[in-house]
Amino acid sequence: MTDIKILFETFKIGSTNLNNRVGVAPMTRTSASPEGLATDQMVSYYTKFARGGFGLIFTEGVYPDDKYAQGYLNQPGIINDEQVQAWKKVTDSVHDEGGKIFIQLMHAGALSQGNRFNKQTLGPSAVQPKGEQLAFYGGEGSFPVPKEATKEDIAEVIQGFVNAAVHAKQAGFDGVEIHGANGYILDQFLTDYMNQRTDEYGGSTENRVRLLVEVSKAVREAVGNEMTVGIRISQGKVNDHHHKWAGEEKDAEIIFGQLKDAGLDFIHVTEYEAWQPAFPQAEGITELESEFGDSGATLAALAKKYSNLPLIANGYLHDPDKARKIIEKGEADVITIGRGALVNGDWVNKVKNGEPLKEFVAEEFLSPDATIKGFEA
Ligand SMILES: Cc1cc2nc3c(=O)[nH]c(=O)nc-3n(C[C@H](O)[C@H](O)[C@H](O)COP(=O)(O)O)c2cc1C
Repeated sequence: MTDIKILFETFKIGSTNLNNRVGVAPMTRTSASPEGLATDQMVSYYTKFARGGFGLIFTEGVYPDDKYAQGYLNQPGIINDEQVQAWKKVTDSVHDEGGKIFIQLMHAGALSQGNRFNKQTLGPSAVQPKGEQLAFYGGEGSFPVPKEATKEDIAEVIQGFVNAAVHAKQAGFDGVEIHGANGYILDQFLTDYMNQRTDEYGGSTENRVRLLVEVSKAVREAVGNEMTVGIRISQGKVNDHHHKWAGEEKDAEIIFGQLKDAGLDFIHVTEYEAWQPAFPQAEGITELESEFGDSGATLAALAKKYSNLPLIANGYLHDPDKARKIIEKGEADVITIGRGALVNGDWVNKVKNGEPLKEFVAEEFLSPDATIKGFEA
C-alpha cells in the first residue's frame, strides 16, 4: 500500500479551500420539521462530520421551490427566510469546526412521494417512473404518472434553483450542488425512457442534457464566482438501479462535454448501484470499476476526460485504499463517503491515526426509516 496521505492534502475547488480531499456524500435523512426547517438535531449531526475531520460536507437533498420540488415529508427546504435562518445555524456550526459545507438542491419531479405543497408530480413526460416508492423515506406503492412539464413549468424549475442558490448564499453555504443524478427531475430529462418530448428538451442526448446546462448556467449567473457551483451526475437511479446510458461513452462525451461550458466548478459522479449493499437484495460495484464494457474507463474518468473539471467521485470508497487509488490515478480530485461516514463520523481522523473503521450495518442506521438517530435534539 502506498501513501494515503494524498487524501489529506488541501485542495481548492471553485472558490472553496478544502482542508483535505475527503467529503461526506449527500444523504437524505427526512429529519427536518414538517415546515422544512433544519433542526438542532441536524446542527449536531452535520457538525459531527466537521469535527471528525471531513474537509467537505454535502447536505442532504434540499427542495428549492414550493411547486413540485419537494420529494419527501420532513425534507428540509431553502425557499424562505425562516428556512435560511435555520440553515444558518448549521453552516455557522460547521464553519466553527473548520469545515466547509455545500448544499445539494434537489427537485424530485416524478419521484416525489411527499410534497406538502402539491399532490401532483411533474416530469418531462407523462411516463410512470419504474420501481416503487422508497419505504425508508415514508412512501409505498408505485409512483403516479406525472404531469408533462409545460414551458412555463420548466422556467419555474430553473427559477426555483436560482432562488434557492441565492438563499443558500445568504445562509452561509460555501457551495451549491445541483442534483442532476439518481432519477430526480434533471436526471428524468436526461433519461431516454422518461423523456419522450419532441421539443428542444427531448430526443437527442444534446437536447436531453439541455435543462441541466440551463440550470447550471442560471445558478452560476445568480451567485457569481465567489460561490462554488457543481452538479451531481449518475446513470443509476433510486428507482432503477442498473440504468446505463444507451450511447455509452458517446453519451458520456456529449453530457460531460455540454456541462464543461456551463459555468460549473466541479462534477460529482456516483454510481447508484454502489450503495445497494445497504439493502438486503443488493449487489454492488465500486466507483473504481469499468463503466462501459472492457474499456476500463470509470464514470469518474470519463467525466474528467470530457469536462476537464475538478472531479468528485463517490461510491464504495470508504475503504481508504480504494479512496487513495482513485485520486492517485488522477480520476478524481476529491472523494465522498456516504454510509461509511454514517458509521464513522470521524472517518478522516480515524484513518489519519490508523484507527480501525466500523462497518456499516443498514439495520442500525436506516431502519425502520432514514431519520437521524443517535443525536440529541
Ligand atoms: C440514507 C441515504 C440517503 C441518501 N440520500 C441522498 C441524497 O439526498 N442525495 C444524493 O445525491 N444521494 C443520496 N444518497 C446516495 C449517497 O450520496 C451515495 O451516493 C451512496 O450512499 C453511495 O456512497 P457510499 O458507498 O459511500 O455509501 C443517499 C444514501 C444514503 C445511504
